[in-house]
Amino acid sequence: MIDVLYHLHAPLGVSGSGRVRYGAAMALWRDGLITAEVLEVYRIASAHDHRDPLQELSSRGLPPPPSTGQGSAVLHFYKAARDYLLALDHPGSADVAAGLAADPGPERPQTVRQNATQEKWLPTALSLLGATHPDLASAIALAAPMLEWVTYDAYPRELIGDDFPTSHAFASLVGADAPFAAHDFDMGVFLIAPGVLYRDHRHPAPELYAPLTGPHGWRFGAGRPVFVKPAHAPVWNPPQKPHMTKVGNVPFLSLFVWTKDVNELAHVIPCDDWPELEANRLV
Ligand SMILES: [Fe+2]
Repeated sequence: MIDVLYHLHAPLGVSGSGRVRYGAAMALWRDGLITAEVLEVYRIASAHDHRDPLQELSSRGLPPPPSTGQGSAVLHFYKAARDYLLALDHPGSADVAAGLAADPGPERPQTVRQNATQEKWLPTALSLLGATHPDLASAIALAAPMLEWVTYDAYPRELIGDDFPTSHAFASLVGADAPFAAHDFDMGVFLIAPGVLYRDHRHPAPELYAPLTGPHGWRFGAGRPVFVKPAHAPVWNPPQKPHMTKVGNVPFLSLFVWTKDVNELAHVIPCDDWPELEANRLV
């Protein structure tokens, strides 16, 4: 039911949102929760992603439809992500918790931007996550079309390689330019395509990865052996700790947190075994 209501209140202006709202209205009408007159307003508006059915309902003297009662889909995702992260046990957990308020403050309008990696691999990742964490998977699925998915482009291409820049995407939930404002703290969701090597790198920001899929490969020093960690095993990277991720056979979907020094650049650490790691599958 809550999923239907988030779809009914999908943000105006998002491509396809008129049809999403109409589909939800159909479901509510079939359940007797809205009248045929209200449904007709959503049908007429379905071809117009910018048209607000609530305004039309009001001008026709019709009652508003049910609301989610829980804020936007992005806020719903924030709360689900916060609940997940605060339940993890790892070094730095107090710093993570300190940046994730129960009430994150007003939600700011966002530039909505989809990304080819996200469109291709997020559904697979969420179907895997949904087998064990259906509520979190649903929260991500509902919020994903309303987020700004971007790639990290601060690495020199000759160091990071050609694969990673075109095979990952992330979206921030908390941060300087994110839906929920923060000073020197970032939280969001990160996605990498299967098999990709995110080469060894380090950065001043203390970092939490909370992988929602797995298994994936990790190492924490240039040239060291790669070992495999399952989904839901958090990875804490202290400041400047080298780390590398070899994505397994499923997409890497993870929550991430940078607890401070978020504007300091990350640097790639050259290693001579990347060709071998990139050519081979993890398992
Ligand atoms: Fe990192």
